[in-house]
Amino acid sequence: MGILSKLCLICFFCSLYGLRSVVSLFIPEDRLFISCGVNNEIELEDGRLFEPDLGNSNVDFSAKSNSIVSNPELSIPIVYRSARVFTGTAKFTININQVGRHWLRLHFYPVENDKYDLKSALFSVVANGITLLHGFSFSKLENSSPLLKEYVIEIGGSSSEKLVLTFSPWSTSSVAFINGIEVVSVPDGQFDFSVIPIPSRPEFVIPTHVALETVYRINVGGSLLTPKNDSLGRIWIPDWPFLLNAASARNVSEDPRWIKYPAGASVEIAPNWVYATAQEMADANVTEQKFNMTWSFGVERGFNYFVRLHFCDIVSKALNTLIFNVYINNHSAIDTFDISSKTMELSAAYFVDFVLNGSTVSDQILVQVGSANQRNFPSNAILNGLEIMKMSSSTDSLDERFTAMPLSSKVVPKRKRHVLLITLVSVGAFVVLLLIIAAIFFAFSSQKKKPKQYRAWLSFQLGISDTKISANSFASTAASLGLGRVLAFSEIRDSTKDFDESLVIGVGGFGKVYKGVLDNGDEVAVKRGNPKSQQGLLEFRTEIEMLSKLRHRHLVSLIGYCEELNEMILVYEFMAGGPLRKHLYGSGLPPLSWKRRLEICIGAAKGLHYLHTGAAEIIIHRDVKTTNILLDENFTAKVADFGLSKLGPTLDQTHVSTAVKGSFGYLDPEYYRRQQLTEKSDVYSFGVVLLEVLCARPAINPSLPREQVNIAEWAMHWQKKGQLHRIIDPHLVSSISMDSLRKFGETAEKCLAEYGSDRPTMGDVLWNLEYALQLQEASTQSIIEDNSANHIPEIPGWIARVESVDSDDIDVVSTQEYDATNSTGVFSQLMNPRGR
Ligand SMILES: *[C@@H]1O[C@H](CO)[C@@H](O)[C@H](O)[C@H]1NC(C)=O
Ligand SMILES: *[C@@H]1O[C@H](CO)[C@@H](O)[C@H](O)[C@H]1NC(C)=O
Ligand SMILES: *[C@@H]1O[C@H](CO)[C@@H](O)[C@H](O)[C@H]1NC(C)=O
Ligand SMILES: *[C@@H]1O[C@H](CO)[C@@H](O)[C@H](O)[C@H]1NC(C)=O
Ligand SMILES: *[C@@H]1O[C@H](CO)[C@@H](O)[C@H](O)[C@H]1NC(C)=O
Ligand SMILES: *[C@@H]1O[C@H](CO)[C@@H](O)[C@H](O)[C@H]1NC(C)=O
Repeated sequence: MGILSKLCLICFFCSLYGLRSVVSLFIPEDRLFISCGVNNEIELEDGRLFEPDLGNSNVDFSAKSNSIVSNPELSIPIVYRSARVFTGTAKFTININQVGRHWLRLHFYPVENDKYDLKSALFSVVANGITLLHGFSFSKLENSSPLLKEYVIEIGGSSSEKLVLTFSPWSTSSVAFINGIEVVSVPDGQFDFSVIPIPSRPEFVIPTHVALETVYRINVGGSLLTPKNDSLGRIWIPDWPFLLNAASARNVSEDPRWIKYPAGASVEIAPNWVYATAQEMADANVTEQKFNMTWSFGVERGFNYFVRLHFCDIVSKALNTLIFNVYINNHSAIDTFDISSKTMELSAAYFVDFVLNGSTVSDQILVQVGSANQRNFPSNAILNGLEIMKMSSSTDSLDERFTAMPLSSKVVPKRKRHVLLITLVSVGAFVVLLLIIAAIFFAFSSQKKKPKQYRAWLSFQLGISDTKISANSFASTAASLGLGRVLAFSEIRDSTKDFDESLVIGVGGFGKVYKGVLDNGDEVAVKRGNPKSQQGLLEFRTEIEMLSKLRHRHLVSLIGYCEELNEMILVYEFMAGGPLRKHLYGSGLPPLSWKRRLEICIGAAKGLHYLHTGAAEIIIHRDVKTTNILLDENFTAKVADFGLSKLGPTLDQTHVSTAVKGSFGYLDPEYYRRQQLTEKSDVYSFGVVLLEVLCARPAINPSLPREQVNIAEWAMHWQKKGQLHRIIDPHLVSSISMDSLRKFGETAEKCLAEYGSDRPTMGDVLWNLEYALQLQEASTQSIIEDNSANHIPEIPGWIARVESVDSDDIDVVSTQEYDATNSTGVFSQLMNPRGR
């Protein structure tokens, strides 16, 4: 049969089945499939050919050192059998034919080999300025099966006209690797439809510079679709693992050939296989059905999400008879939706795009459809397909999760022992003397009630966690990248009603802190430098630069600054919940549940872990305490007040030698004996915070009998006897699980170890707290089933509730500063010794 007759035959079938509209007309300009570390072209099961990465005319590869590992294990797909491994930063520069959005797919699999342990390799990947993976490692995942990450990023536009992919090992002892790379053009307009914000706001179009990462792509009611069934190489997975109540739904399907694509829809949006299957409400012909079909998708919080829902009415017999509601995260997304009023025919493809405001996303996205229960209509609802994509943050990142998780490979290589200078020893003796004097002073003055302090609002806010999504604010937040936004003095003055005294929320050495409201309605904390403060312009600038290096969900963030008219003003996000301490004791606020307390500790631990490991240099907070952990309106914990922070030891040091600063009751005894600062000092202070959270009392309470004054001593006394439960907050007694308490007590005990080297890293602490949370959650589950779970039977009768005393506001500060790194003097001079 000649080609011509074949064509005729195809045309015949096309007209017969209406197939014309299904055939893909889009041929991607760029279609690059690269397999790393192979010598010859390989063919995948789905028929796609992957070319070798070297010797490829479109790929320019540069790396200081790299090698190839491979393992011809037949049970895994061919592209995962080899990988290129980098011991230093490596760069792929990939030429493309057409600028615009592209799909970028990265294949990872820790190929077994005897040279490198790829499972524990810890690395970051950046593509044209967008952080795709940050501190990623297979060891942090549940299993080591092949991993396909799919992104949509813009090439050209504001970025380079080539795709530049950078792989960086996390430290000199780690490596990075990659198995395969796919670059495929996205059809024009694929993501240019206006999106409906949830919660409701005016519609907008997602700017092209926003990168997307596919988190879920679901063929509802159908089976797995592979690149064989999708001309754009996408993978669609079945929905049943996400369906909350399998009995509420019933899968329906139609012959894919009958699916029509009205104007606006196309097979590039989704193949007909997706529209040809759906879930409908089970028992749809019972009248007055009152339930929703619900799908739940776990996601990472802190990002906005793009959600595309696909509909195609394959269940109705007539137009305008299927009317239902769609909800996303409990918000109404579409009310009384009638697909056929949009498509004007049955079995026709239709889709709607939404953007979910990150502030409404906790850890899951719920998609629900339920009958609108209109009279005289059958009660039913359907969903055919669903895509959820994470949108890059204002910091151009798509990954914050991994930084906050325990790191398996040691980030900081071993450092050489450092000999302490004799002069420092004598200075140390002087400091100890000062401490004794301070302690005596404190013992005498503690009876006096100090004025309430809100020093926590003086916080230095390190991140730009702004994840707004209006089209306008994208532009403005983009401008603010790096250094925070420059704000006009007039704007700040207006925001604080000309620095109205009634808006003062804190006073510190640097000046006053006001609550303000910016033009766009954002509430902020405005810290205005006192012209007489010791902090000059240069330090002010250095500080902003330092702060801008760090961004994290669990560090309070810097929104902008102003340095007009000799003013030095820093503007931070406003933390509505105030300091953690206020929620623990002394303020009459309702007690927090144990689960919430654990979540707060986990949040704060993530923030500190990031400080210690997330940036190029170790940063030691030096003043970890419950007043420096702030809560937002959702009780998300953020570490604040970096006024004493210091860069940690560099590679050839074990510690930084420095004058002792910090807060009484939280101070690491080893640091205070030896003036040698390491990140483990923060771990100690965090241990005290954990005890404060558990026992709901101040770190130091001089009004108690002597053995009880210091929480660390008192709690460790009971912990060692295995009876920590005798001194916990009575509000927790009935709900805390013994297992969770035990884990928590052990964690605090380890943090408080005498020697820094015996203390866990913040990463380990975090892991243990997460485990304690799991234990608590497991026990609440079992409580529901069986009331006799392992909870503490009764409130210990003898616990004396003592009124809280604001005693830990007395801080320890020495007068001199010996700074081994010296580059960071900015932090040390920042704080006026008074009132720390
Ligand atoms: C549809 O449901 C039936 C019966 O529950 C099940 O056997 C079948 O596997 C389902 N089909 C798909 C594609 O999920
Ligand atoms: C994928 O497409 C092939 C034809 O290209 C078809 O035979 C097969 O049934 C499709 N698979 C699914 C799950 O739809
Ligand atoms: C719908 O209702 C009809 C008549 O009441 C009944 O025969 C049929 O089995 C029902 N269908 C389903 C799926 O329950
Ligand atoms: C939606 O509402 C349910 C029940 O009120 C609640 O359990 C769930 O957490 C809510 N989900 C979201 C994402 O708000
Ligand atoms: C369906 O879910 C939405 C949002 O969670 C809720 O408001 C509505 O009451 C639910 N409908 C039914 C019938 O349960
Ligand atoms: C997202 O939600 C937060 C809190 O509800 C709100 O302040 C913010 O303006 C919203 N952003 C957008 C762009 O809708």
